[in-house]
Amino acid sequence: MDNTQFAVANLKGGCGKSTLAINLAAGLAARDNTILLDADPQGTLEHWINHEEIKGMPRVLATNSDLSEKISWASADHRFVVVDCPPALGSGYTETALEMVDILLIPVLPSPPDLWSSVHMVEAVQQARKINPGLRAYFVRNQVETRSALSDAMRQALLSCGLPALKNTLGRRAAYRWAALEGISVYQFGARGKKAVSDIESIIEEVLNHD
Ligand SMILES: Nc1ncnc2c1ncn2[C@@H]1O[C@H](COP(=O)(O)OP(=O)(O)O)[C@@H](O)[C@H]1O
Ligand SMILES: [Mg+2]
Repeated sequence: MDNTQFAVANLKGGCGKSTLAINLAAGLAARDNTILLDADPQGTLEHWINHEEIKGMPRVLATNSDLSEKISWASADHRFVVVDCPPALGSGYTETALEMVDILLIPVLPSPPDLWSSVHMVEAVQQARKINPGLRAYFVRNQVETRSALSDAMRQALLSCGLPALKNTLGRRAAYRWAALEGISVYQFGARGKKAVSDIESIIEEVLNHD
């Protein structure tokens, strides 16, 4: 099947990997058949796993082993595959995902320490491209307060780290937290999720129409 695989990864915990992964997967599920693989041994997505019956939620699968096998299996019959990676290199999961997927999204918070620790992801991408030369990788700025000079400066700083940042960002919005508490995506959150849905839609369109 002609498909598109995404990994969401960063070595930092708490930068928004699971938030981006679940909402990205929900947005993609509205377009076509989508599966979300939870490759974080902490099982952050457990909440969501039991909520597949909610209309519009993607299928979610915990992958405690054999990630490469699971990605291949998922790719056989899903138009979109999203992998939520653990916050570490060395376990092999993030490396495996980077060697297999088409697109890597690296969420990053708008703070200097988060920004500098992302440099390790640039090295991981360079390593993965030896095996997966077509890997497209982008930083995604998360928890952006408003369109500010700081977030523009950050986009420039990220580019100087060696990978581009998407133009579109995730705003800092309570809807992401509330949706997570309820085990749904912002797409199931009605009017309260509207701005967050618009963030995610812009990111999906930017990524799918970019080459
Ligand atoms: N854009 C955002 N606005 C508000 N809260 C957010 C946003 N992104 C993430 N969060 C919150 O920050 C915390 C960490 O996010 P999470 O996606 O779990 O990070 P990670 O998977 O990288 O560890 C969660 O409580 C999540 O709800
Ligand atoms: Mg997580």
